[in-house]
Amino acid sequence: MQLLTLPPSPALATSIRATAQVFEDPKSKALLKHLQQVAPSEASVLIIGETGTGKELVARHIHNLSTRKTQAFVAVNCGAFSESLVEAELFGHEKGAFTGALSAKAGWFEEANGGTLFLDEIGDLPMSIQVKLLRVLQEREVVRLGSRKSIAINVRVLAATNVQLEKAINAGHFREDLFYRLNVVNLELSPLRDRPGDIIALVHYFIASYTKRLGYGEVRLSPAAEHKLATYSWPGNIRELENVIHHTLLICRDGVIQSDDLRLSNLRIERPDEHPPTDESAMGLLDQALHRLFEEQVDNLHEHVERTLLRAAYKFCHHNQVHTAELLGLSRNVARTLLINLGELKVNKRRPVKPSADERVLHLSI
Ligand SMILES: Nc1ncnc2c1ncn2[C@@H]1O[C@H](COP(=O)(O)OP(=O)(O)O)[C@@H](O)[C@H]1O
Ligand SMILES: [Mg+2]
Repeated sequence: MQLLTLPPSPALATSIRATAQVFEDPKSKALLKHLQQVAPSEASVLIIGETGTGKELVARHIHNLSTRKTQAFVAVNCGAFSESLVEAELFGHEKGAFTGALSAKAGWFEEANGGTLFLDEIGDLPMSIQVKLLRVLQEREVVRLGSRKSIAINVRVLAATNVQLEKAINAGHFREDLFYRLNVVNLELSPLRDRPGDIIALVHYFIASYTKRLGYGEVRLSPAAEHKLATYSWPGNIRELENVIHHTLLICRDGVIQSDDLRLSNLRIERPDEHPPTDESAMGLLDQALHRLFEEQVDNLHEHVERTLLRAAYKFCHHNQVHTAELLGLSRNVARTLLINLGELKVNKRRPVKPSADERVLHLSI
């Protein structure tokens, strides 16, 4: 395996710094503009998007563009802690507040004081903690577990979720009042597949940053590889793209990424909640139902035609089974069984009335 090991050119290094984030697609450009407008304010922001779409990156960006940029940015994943732990982590605790609280500890709110607190996966926060969080946001003070003293806090809260909180509210899992308190500004990050203009820009961005990190020289992309990347659905969004580029650089030969070097998972992630039925899917269902109905009607019609023909032939042959069978091109047995089933002939107890498998269908050319 041969890898180019030229150091990156100063121009390349500068361009990585200058475009530390990629916002190329028109949707991303509009998002960036919106983000720049709201960042300097003190407003809470709710960032919504599938996993890997860049929610945390956007939160950091907002912090860096705000007047709090020199203060702390504390990012926490609300889904990563049990109910009892998350309370102590958020609001802090005094020594002896619960079994295992061997010393006093400041919570995330105190850690972020003066700066920004990013609450990721806010939808995972238990209801009991949601009430306390709302109180802290409204009163701007926290009380550590095991203490009565309130501590004034000055924190801007940014929250993120990968689920539609409105649905969680309807299901009784999320407090509506907290939702409105967090959702002063709403930023929705589209899945990567819905902002195709970002894909190749991100590919170049990650090639540049990883070749630099790995100490490689220039690595190019073959046209077929570019096409494969541009047309893939990216269920894991930007995080998946970043991992694919990192992995590909480790196995790519001679400084050119070929289509075969790219291992794309083709994993299909069902997101039923995020894709309400469209007019097209409704039409598809209707079409299937009509098709089924039509087939049933054809089957019924077929049976009806068979019965009518058999009766007519039997009458035409003056109720002679043998002649009827000959007229219709059937074996005597089949004709007899069908006539019995039709009620035209009486069952002869000694003979079976059930046709054998290959005799069961009356094939008449109509
Ligand atoms: N616009 C962007 N430009 C460059 N890299 C990005 C961009 N958005 C996200 N990333 C990168 O993609 C990865 C996933 O982003 P992250 O913010 O953790 O997503 P999420 O929080 O939505 O799961 C991170 O490594 C992040 O740096
Ligand atoms: Mg995240």
